[in-house]
Amino acid sequence: MWEEGGSILDYGEPETLEKWRNSEKTEKSEDPMRKQETELDFFEQEIGLLDVVGPRAREIIGQDCKVMSACVSRPYPLVVDRAKGSVIKDIDGKEYIDFIAGIAVMNSGHSNPEVNAAISAQLEKMVHCGYGDFFAEPPLKLAKKLRELSGYSKVFYCNSGTEAVEAAMKLALWKTKRPNFIAFYNAFHGRTLGALSLTCSKVRQKEHFPTMRTVHTHYAYCYRCPLNLEYPSCGVECAKQIENLIFRKELSPEDTAAVFIEPVQGEGGYIVPPQEFHKEVKRICTDNDVLLIADEVQTGCFRTGPFLAMENFEVRADITCLAKALGAGLPIGAMLADSTLMDWPPGVHSNTFGGNLLSSASALASLEFLEKENMENRVREMGTHIRQRLRELQENCPCIGDVRGLGLMIGAEIVKSDKSIDPIRRDRIVREAFKEGVLLLPCGDSVIRFSPPLVMTDEEADLGLDKFEKALRRAAK
Ligand SMILES: Cc1ncc(COP(=O)(O)O)c(C=O)c1O
Repeated sequence: MWEEGGSILDYGEPETLEKWRNSEKTEKSEDPMRKQETELDFFEQEIGLLDVVGPRAREIIGQDCKVMSACVSRPYPLVVDRAKGSVIKDIDGKEYIDFIAGIAVMNSGHSNPEVNAAISAQLEKMVHCGYGDFFAEPPLKLAKKLRELSGYSKVFYCNSGTEAVEAAMKLALWKTKRPNFIAFYNAFHGRTLGALSLTCSKVRQKEHFPTMRTVHTHYAYCYRCPLNLEYPSCGVECAKQIENLIFRKELSPEDTAAVFIEPVQGEGGYIVPPQEFHKEVKRICTDNDVLLIADEVQTGCFRTGPFLAMENFEVRADITCLAKALGAGLPIGAMLADSTLMDWPPGVHSNTFGGNLLSSASALASLEFLEKENMENRVREMGTHIRQRLRELQENCPCIGDVRGLGLMIGAEIVKSDKSIDPIRRDRIVREAFKEGVLLLPCGDSVIRFSPPLVMTDEEADLGLDKFEKALRRAAK
């Protein structure tokens, strides 16, 4: 075959590539990517981009819109350049207080000197070896630290949250030989096709994509109880529905591999369930011989105080997924379980980058730093302080319907006067905050989330909240 067509090395070169380049030029007016230029228009019209960001940011955004897939969506035009602790500098030199932490990733702070030193030292030695095929010390040291912090005896490494969830799904399927899952409304577990089956946060994330069979049920969203009940008289009826409704009417426990749950729902709206909720879900799983899998991708690594958020609820899941903050900014995910459960044989599951040497070194240094700094207490104190200040704001700003959170995972739900959701005002507040120099992200239908680096100082938090207050007052008009 190659004899006729020539060598594989010159296949398509130079003619084909040249043709493609030319066709891109000639077909430009029909190029779907041109639609992305509207993002620039959107920023300009909606928030007066020219007044807010400098010329270098504007130029980068203009170029970015031409080459990046339009499926990523940005809430405002931040173009980052550098960062330290909880402060980010944009490409034109403006500083921002960071209440996002790279989507709950930079728990040990931006440019943490101890993490950076560990990365540099490993960089000098070796970056990647293909840990799935060989052995090395950094991922082993990290595994021992994870065992010490979590109590689970085995770890499987991957590169992201969605992959940790995929690994947990596969382990549950392999172990139980049952094909179905249970997950919750508002859940976010990732966007690869397995994890997406569990995700139930926004229909846009799922439309047109095939999924595995997952039955969704109600999470304890007490501010908007889906069952119109009141806590505590409800007796966490939402949890009980797994047993009383799903297992009776829709999906036999005999066919259920696992229940997937976030200790605090993240992307779905920073929803904190009452204490008994997780205990009840765990009881149902135990009684029905179904695995409980905690997705701690966002809640883990001291974000809510203890290393794992499930510790707040005194519940231990059979499998726990970690990612996000684990690598302190470098990609790494992990699935944790005990050896009696994670006893699958060689070759069943693996990947190329899991246990990457640089990511492992970064993760270990970050966990050691967070432990040494007694972050559990710090997170509780700071979380209480931020919630308190938001509740004070709420007294004069009825558009804040609910302030909730656990540790440094805090949500303010923005509502209309009849308590219905108000995503338009929510987005306006987030953009006004950006103009003030505060970085926030939306989540859920109408929530603003506060998930700062855990190292944020009292002064930074207060300055950020002062600026947030100004933004809120402007957007509330
Ligand atoms: C709870 C949870 N699980 C899974 C994921 C997916 O993680 P990733 O974006 O790293 O794939 C996220 C991401 O936000 C998450 O919050």
